[in-house]
Order: sequence, then structure tokens, then C-alpha cells
Amino acid sequence: MDDRLTEIDEDQGGELPAVVGQTSGGGRKVFVRTFGCQMNVYDSERMTEALAGEGYAATGAIEEADLVILNTCHIREKAAEKVYSDLGRLRVLKQERAAAGSDTVVAVVGCVAQAEGAEIVRRAPVVDLVIGPQSYHRLPELIVRTRAESRSLVETEFPEEEKFAHLPHRAPARAVTAFLTVQEGCDKFCTFCVVPYTRGMEYSRAVADIEREARALVESGVREVTLLGQNVNGYHGAGPGGRTYSLADLVHRLARIDGLERLRYTTSHPRDMSDDLIAAHADEPKLMPYLHLPFQAGSDRILAAMNRKHTAREYVDLARRIRSARPDLALSTDVIVGFPGESEDEFAETLAVFAEVGFAAAFSFKYSPRPGTPAEKLADQVPEDVKTERLARLQEVIDRHQRTFSASCVGRTLPVLFERLGRHEGQLIGRSPFLQGVHAEAPPELIGKIVPVEISSFGPNSLAGVIRPE
Ligand code: 5AD
Ligand code: SF4
Repeated sequence: MDDRLTEIDEDQGGELPAVVGQTSGGGRKVFVRTFGCQMNVYDSERMTEALAGEGYAATGAIEEADLVILNTCHIREKAAEKVYSDLGRLRVLKQERAAAGSDTVVAVVGCVAQAEGAEIVRRAPVVDLVIGPQSYHRLPELIVRTRAESRSLVETEFPEEEKFAHLPHRAPARAVTAFLTVQEGCDKFCTFCVVPYTRGMEYSRAVADIEREARALVESGVREVTLLGQNVNGYHGAGPGGRTYSLADLVHRLARIDGLERLRYTTSHPRDMSDDLIAAHADEPKLMPYLHLPFQAGSDRILAAMNRKHTAREYVDLARRIRSARPDLALSTDVIVGFPGESEDEFAETLAVFAEVGFAAAFSFKYSPRPGTPAEKLADQVPEDVKTERLARLQEVIDRHQRTFSASCVGRTLPVLFERLGRHEGQLIGRSPFLQGVHAEAPPELIGKIVPVEISSFGPNSLAGVIRPE
């Protein structure tokens, strides 16, 4: 994934709250904490649904949970360390519950589980189950086994059978927007990135499976679907009639579903931004004019060392081509500062790409050496204080760009898909086509509807506006 492990990343405001799934009235309770990317959010939802079928009701209160699942992220060191600090607290909780006569199963799933395997149980014996992202459909069976055998189990194989085929169908959604994983894994091997090792090789789900899931989501009230993949625009899935579908083909097909009003996809690699996908941004009105397209660094030397397979100029030209297909398209990106060997001049080249392209949003990270990746072994690691200083400078630029973009929306009337009640009485929150949160005074019946809103002001994270008659 040139990964949307970003917008909900710890650097951007903390891990996600527990994902609370449907309740089935069964006797046991499950608490899920999700770290990292949207794909983990999706995986947590699917696990919660599978467990509901086994009688587990989701809870937001960890102390009452019979099963605690930490769905983990390994993309940067901080994300992985958070898991261990949670496990420290869980050790105490598990003891307290045991003293009161209740047992607790602790499961670590996701990318830290995949990367660290049995090491997790060694470091944190409180853990009963370690399950990689390709095996979480086996969670119910492994819970039974760990209880029966009273020992910790580690399942980090990349199994032959396909996870999606073993998961139950989607439970009724509770939301207006949903994620839908269409592709997993990545073969790009950027030298800084653990994803090819934790999520494995690229794999695309079949079109018919995806379509079935999308229709089920729409029938239960979803109006906007974000197609997820670590390298989503590399999608090449088996389609009807034996034809291989590209992401553009998939988008056009899903756009035919009545009631599905908006489509997005994330995260993309510049190398896989094919002509048909660029054309889809011009031709497919349901495809939203927002694209997350990481460029990671502005220096060609650093890009080559990162194995990104494109130059800065190629990226800038690509952005121009996409914008000529869809002139109002808002771009967002990911950038790493302080990759090994990055000089001050090379960092300045990153700033130059920002100045040239202009991003509506961006996510920036200090390079973090990841175990087992080629860049970890490079000499010339950049000192922490230099990374911190560069990140601060870059973030100033990013904030300025974001404010400029938000300011350019003031006075415009944007179609807003209302998603939920706002914090203030009488207020709803929705999203603009450009993925900005929008607040407006509106009755709750408008949740799930796309309504024109004239934007009147903006804050650091959202816009505010007034509903206009159509
Ligand atoms: N260090 C810092 N940032 C990283 N990312 C991925 N791996 C690392 C790493 N080792 C960033 C990239 C990617 C985003 C999800 O996380 O910018 O696009
Ligand atoms: Fe994205 Fe590169 Fe990591 Fe693949 S290897 S997920 S393209 S950053």
C-alpha cells in the first residue's frame, strides 16, 4: 500500500476508538481496538461480524470483555510500541478479572502479529492468540482451541485458502459510508516499508465477490464506498466472462449499482495510475474528485534509494495529467522526511514538489527504520533532531496548503453526504466530495442524503455551511 495508513495514523491524532460491531445477544463480549490504516478498520468490522455469529456481543468497555482484540499496525515504530504498552495494561486487567472469576482471551492480530509472531507471546505472556492479517477468519476456531488447550497459539502462515471465502456475509451496516477491501498486499517493495512482508504479495478479489458485498452494503443504507487496497490501483481481479478487470473497470461496474452514490479508492501508487483510471475520473460522475497519491520524497536520488520507481518530475507530470482529466480534483499525499542519507538540499526538493503540485491534504512522517526492510540497514541514518526539525517545517507547509484549499471552498456550494449527528443540537456532519468534514444545521432525516451546502467558514479540520435549496 502506498498506504492510507496515514490519515488515521497515530501521528494524526491517536489510534482509532474501538470498533463496535453488531450485537447478537450471546453471552460473551468482545472489545476490539484498531490501530493504523483503513484496511485494519475494515478487518476489525469483519472480525466483529464473524464473532457476532459465535455469540460475541461487541462492547466499548474493555473491563467487561471476555475477548480483547488488538488489531495492530507495524508501519512505524511508534505504532508497534503502542501495542506493547496496551498489553502491559491488559496484564493487570486480566489478573483483576481472573480474581473476580472471569477469564479473558487476549488476541493480537494484524501486522505486528504477522511481523513478530511468537516474539509477542515471549515479550507479553498475557497474549493468548497471535494471528496474522491473512488468517483472522480462523479467530473463532482458535479461541476455542486456546481455551481448550490452555496455551498460547500463533497463526501467521499465509494460508492457501482464501480468507474472504470463509468470512460470513456482511452484517447490516450502521453507517452511510463503508470501506470495502478489494486488493491486499503489495509487490512494490519500497525499501522503507514493511507491508510486503506483513500483508504479503498482491492479491485482488474477484469482481463478483466485491459486487455482492457492495450491493449488501447499499441495501443496508450505505451510500458511499471506499475501495481499499495497499496498492489499490494495481487491482487486477477476475471479472465476468473470464476477463481481468482493472480498477477503472471495477469502478465503472460498481457505479451501476442503484443507491450507491459515491465511490472512492485508496491507496494508490503513481506507477499504477493507468490511463483508463485517469479517464474514469473524467467520465464517472460517482467517482469522487479526490485522490490520495503518495510521492514520499522530492529528490530523485532518494526516490531511487526508496525503490519508488518514479522520479519527482514524473510525479508532477502525472498530477498534471490527472487534473486535466478532472480539473477540480483534490490531491493528497504521504511524505517521509529523513530517509537515510537525505541531505538538506534533498529535503528542499520535497518542499519544491509541494510548492509545484499544491495538495489539499498531506500526511508526513519521520522515517522510522523497520525490522527486515532494506533501508533499515543503510548507513547514514539521519539524526532524530534533524528529522524532527524537517517534519516541523514540512508540516507548516502542509497546514498552509490545507488552509488555502479550505479557504477556496468558502462561498462555493458543495454536495455534502450527511453521515451522522453533530456534537451540537440540530447539527449534522457530512463529507464534501473532497473528503472534508462539513457541519451544517440540518434535520436528522437528511442523514444518508446528498444535499447542497453553501460553505461559509472553515476550521483546522472541517468546513461549516448552510443548506441551499436544490
Ligand atoms: N517510516 C516512515 N514512514 C513510513 N511509511 C511507511 N513506512 C514508513 C517508515 N518506515 C509511510 C509512507 C506510507 C505511509 C502509510 O506511511 O509515507 O505511504
Ligand atoms: Fe506502499 Fe511501497 Fe509499502 Fe507497497 S511497499 S505498501 S507501495 S509504501
